[in-house]
Amino acid sequence: MKNLQFYLKDARDKNYVVGAYNFSNLETLKGICQGCKLSNSPAFLAVSESGFEYIGERYILPIVESVKKEYNLPLFLHLDHGKSFEICKKAIDLGFESVMFDGSALPFDENVNVTKKVVAYAHKKGVFVEAELGVLAGIEDNVSAKESLFTNPQKAKEFVQKTGCDSLAVAIGTSHGAYKYKSKAKIEFDILKEIEKQIPKIPLVLHGASSVPQNFVKIINQNGGNLIGAKGTDSKILSKLAQESHIYKINTDTDLRLCYMASIRKFLKENPAEIDMREANKIAIQQIAKFVAEKNEKVFMCANKA
Ligand code: G3H
Ligand code: 13P
Ligand code: ZN
Repeated sequence: MKNLQFYLKDARDKNYVVGAYNFSNLETLKGICQGCKLSNSPAFLAVSESGFEYIGERYILPIVESVKKEYNLPLFLHLDHGKSFEICKKAIDLGFESVMFDGSALPFDENVNVTKKVVAYAHKKGVFVEAELGVLAGIEDNVSAKESLFTNPQKAKEFVQKTGCDSLAVAIGTSHGAYKYKSKAKIEFDILKEIEKQIPKIPLVLHGASSVPQNFVKIINQNGGNLIGAKGTDSKILSKLAQESHIYKINTDTDLRLCYMASIRKFLKENPAEIDMREANKIAIQQIAKFVAEKNEKVFMCANKA
């Protein structure tokens, strides 16, 4: 089975990215794995701090180990937006293969210090560390920032040299959640180019990259939802970034939530007498699988890279 180290290089050499899909229930996890099976793709199975709490830490590893056995694909369990050394340590001790320490809200020196500490602990156990410099705008549960602060390319170089992190999440205009832009998406390609010049060897990560498919928004709104002005990053932009930049991992959470909720709302409206939640969930799993497979094939370009 190909490991994470392989994908750091291969994604760059062959112009694709590995999708990082967030899950916090079994249905979403099954949908992601089935989607990756359909497209024969690698993926990060990402759990946020609040997802960690929601699932319950003792369940995560056994569940993920089971799906990995069943699907036999390069699926990497990843802690998303760990906000402290302690939570990163907990994930590493549990058996996560990759952790993100998100010190983006901290002053530069503090971010450097904690990232270094996480790197030292993680590397002893062969665990991969993603760090973050710059602040993404937007609001999503535990992950919020009122204003974005783009990653400073020179600071990125200093940060990477001082911390020894394996990859770096950059702020170039995307944001978390379903409401990313007031008008058109604006991605700072020039800043990204400069970051790539300063740290040419470091694989980069794009957060807040959901495309917020308008068909999901429409289904939600037609079936009792109320999402006004929801907007994401155009898939064409994401696919250009996937093929032409040093970004090797792109994170998606919101799109899976929209897909899931659209499917559940539609099912319940059409089947008002149904009380077996499995009937609704089965369809949601299928829809997530279809979405993930398409995203892998057409946007991340990582089909058949497993
Ligand atoms: O980028 C992060 C995740 O989408 C945050 O999700 O609501 O599970 O904290 P959360
Ligand atoms: P979205 O909210 O755009 O899906 O971002 C997900 C993310 O960055 C997870 O870390
Ligand atoms: Zn994120």
